Amino acid sequence: MEPTAKTTAPQTADACDCVSACFLQSNDNTLPSDVALDCQVEKIYYGDFLAVRDSYVPIRKNQITGFIGPSGCGKSTVLKSINRMNDLIRGFRFEGKVHFHGMDIYDKKIDPVSVRRNIGMVFQQPNPFALSIYENVAFGLRLNRYKGNMDEQVEKALRSAALWDEVKNKLKNNGLSLSGGQQQRLCIARAIATEPRVLLMDEPCSALDPIATRQIEELMIQLKERYTVAIVTHNMQQAVRVADQTAFFAVDISSGGRTGYLVEMSPTKQLFENPQQKLTKEYLHGDFS
Ligand SMILES: Nc1ncnc2c1ncn2[C@@H]1O[C@H](COP(=O)(O)OP(=O)(O)O)[C@@H](O)[C@H]1O
Ligand SMILES: [Mg+2]
Repeated sequence: MEPTAKTTAPQTADACDCVSACFLQSNDNTLPSDVALDCQVEKIYYGDFLAVRDSYVPIRKNQITGFIGPSGCGKSTVLKSINRMNDLIRGFRFEGKVHFHGMDIYDKKIDPVSVRRNIGMVFQQPNPFALSIYENVAFGLRLNRYKGNMDEQVEKALRSAALWDEVKNKLKNNGLSLSGGQQQRLCIARAIATEPRVLLMDEPCSALDPIATRQIEELMIQLKERYTVAIVTHNMQQAVRVADQTAFFAVDISSGGRTGYLVEMSPTKQLFENPQQKLTKEYLHGDFS
């Protein structure tokens, strides 16, 4: 379940009295140095339904990792598991580990709110709050009781999201007054204002026109210099254009279920030009979708 689009700001967001400073301070000595986040899915259930199994997805630092595969193969489920967004869904159960900065984010000691503060997310439908452009970006900072210069931080986030020049003279206007592409860049600004380490995006361009899509793609490529990015896309060409690594998922129907799993993951060029698995070849050929 995604946050409802175009609602007022959520009142349930937790106060930041429990920032797990450990995420912010720790160095990770347990992962290869180029891996920011090591997602090891054994099983993911919604109630009794086994949605995803056996998927090891290392997310590399300062790269874009693309998730591709047919509808229902678990791309969103795995992505949302990476920042515990699925915790909010009844019946959701994750078996496995997600290593991040020397910790398993599913460890009982870890506060899911602090996970989401460090691993931000942008959704399919742009979902700005019914607040001013400025307050949309300031939202997470206020929640975190940010003590620095708010104006500067808001400007920085809007510049990083390639939106500043378009909105600098109308920061008090409602975020919902912007175009779809601008709204999505506003959501990206909101997500990066608190400077997370990882940015997850679930089909961030699927509601956008080709020009806005290109802008977001260019933005992603800029953002990876400072952030680690993982993106779900239903558009294989988008994966080719932006992703450094691509993970291909498929659905296993062999035992009467519909369980998603990772078929293979490689550098994007290699996956598209020289896939190792027959199923990947067939998918890239368009034999099934
Ligand atoms: N909240 C949910 N409750 C029950 N089943 C779900 C829920 N979300 C997704 N699923 C199921 O999990 C499987 C994977 O879904 P999803 O991760 O959305 O796939 P994708 O993003 O690849 O299209 C699908 O069979 C889907 O119906
Ligand atoms: Mg999805």
